[in-house]
Amino acid sequence: MTYEKTQALLNQAVADLSKAASIVHQTHWYMQGPGFFYLHPKMDELMDQLNETLDVVSERLITIGGSPYSTLKEFDQQSKLSEEVGTFDKSMTQRLERLAEVYRYLSDLFQEGLAVSDEEGDDPSNGIFSDAQDSIQKTLWMLEAEIGRSTSL
Ligand SMILES: [Fe+2]
Repeated sequence: MTYEKTQALLNQAVADLSKAASIVHQTHWYMQGPGFFYLHPKMDELMDQLNETLDVVSERLITIGGSPYSTLKEFDQQSKLSEEVGTFDKSMTQRLERLAEVYRYLSDLFQEGLAVSDEEGDDPSNGIFSDAQDSIQKTLWMLEAEIGRSTSL
């Protein structure tokens, strides 16, 4: 029994979740505008959720014989998410729209994870991808509601 594709997807998620948490942290620091008082602490919650998922994904990868990326350099090189140097010239809506893109990307990644773990018969990883996608999609809905549009799912 080999879980090769599932391992690769779990490790991709390790890199992307790490980078997503960094993008949320930048939002926490650089946001300006209406909503700051509730959105600033909300970013702490989102980071906690991403980091919890990261830990579960990473430990499942180790459990099935893989080696999770664990350095900032690996996260940066392996993640498909891109970052920009922080600036104070973006509106709150622009920042939330960027986060919605990031969450949409993660939702799509977990969809791929569901497919490969199903194909390889790795039910626990399948459950992890399912839980992760549920939580990411719920946040995506909230981000889009805050922006003032319907969910894009
Ligand atoms: Fe803070």
